[in-house]
Amino acid sequence: MQTMIGVIGGSGIYQIEGLEGAEWVEVQSPFGAPSDAVLTGRLGGVPMAFVPRHGRGHVHTPTSVPYRANIDALKRLGVTDVIAVSACGSFRDEMAPGDFVIVDQFIDRTFAREKSFFGPGLVAHVSVAHPTCPRLGAACAEAARAEGITVHEGGTYLAMEGPQFSTRAESRLYREVWGCDVIGMTNMPEAKLAREAELCYASVAMITDYDSWHPDHGSVDISDIIRVLSGNADKARAVVARLPGLLGPERLPCPHGCDRALDHAVLTAPGM
Ligand code: ADE
Repeated sequence: MQTMIGVIGGSGIYQIEGLEGAEWVEVQSPFGAPSDAVLTGRLGGVPMAFVPRHGRGHVHTPTSVPYRANIDALKRLGVTDVIAVSACGSFRDEMAPGDFVIVDQFIDRTFAREKSFFGPGLVAHVSVAHPTCPRLGAACAEAARAEGITVHEGGTYLAMEGPQFSTRAESRLYREVWGCDVIGMTNMPEAKLAREAELCYASVAMITDYDSWHPDHGSVDISDIIRVLSGNADKARAVVARLPGLLGPERLPCPHGCDRALDHAVLTAPGM
């Protein structure tokens, strides 16, 4: 089997430069239209597909992002490994704006999104105890280190609905009581859907701010976030550019079983 890298680009990342044979393709999905056309091409000899999560021109809110269609489109194109790039706020002094976090756990507080490909008529329950792929996450961390980026391997991401940022009381709850490390609005249900689609998924979260808990920093301000993101977009692209070399063209079975998540998950009897 061949490796194919799927990249879901977050705020500030609406395309990837340097893809050989780059072409924007429209992908049809029974789950609706993806956020935008998908940019396909090859990087370092490995096929790649890129979807701008919010669409070019940033038209989708975190709630309106068509998460199912995006994951389904990547699956249909033959993607094996999904790298989700996104902005996040930090709950830790030592996780500073400009740093990257390879997220490995989530608390999902989103409530207004379609969260599963399954439903009445076809019932399945996959495990998301370990919601990201350690092999893919390690490759992202290695790529980030090679680029001289300060990268934190592992961290718990609070996924909030948005679009407003958190109150100070919420921010303190997530940090002090729930022990979260970072907060963002988009990695859920994306990670759950990638697991249902049997895709390896790694989250590269770029810290843009200290959310609203920090006594030395004011409230979160989108213009500050955009300023940090503009400085980080090139770093994120450089991380992506190193992945073909680290993952290689041949796709071996995932040692963590991401690609076999449905083996024992479907409950509905065949033919029902
Ligand atoms: N994205 C970037 N910073 C964020 C924050 N503080 N809260 C939620 N989403 C974010």
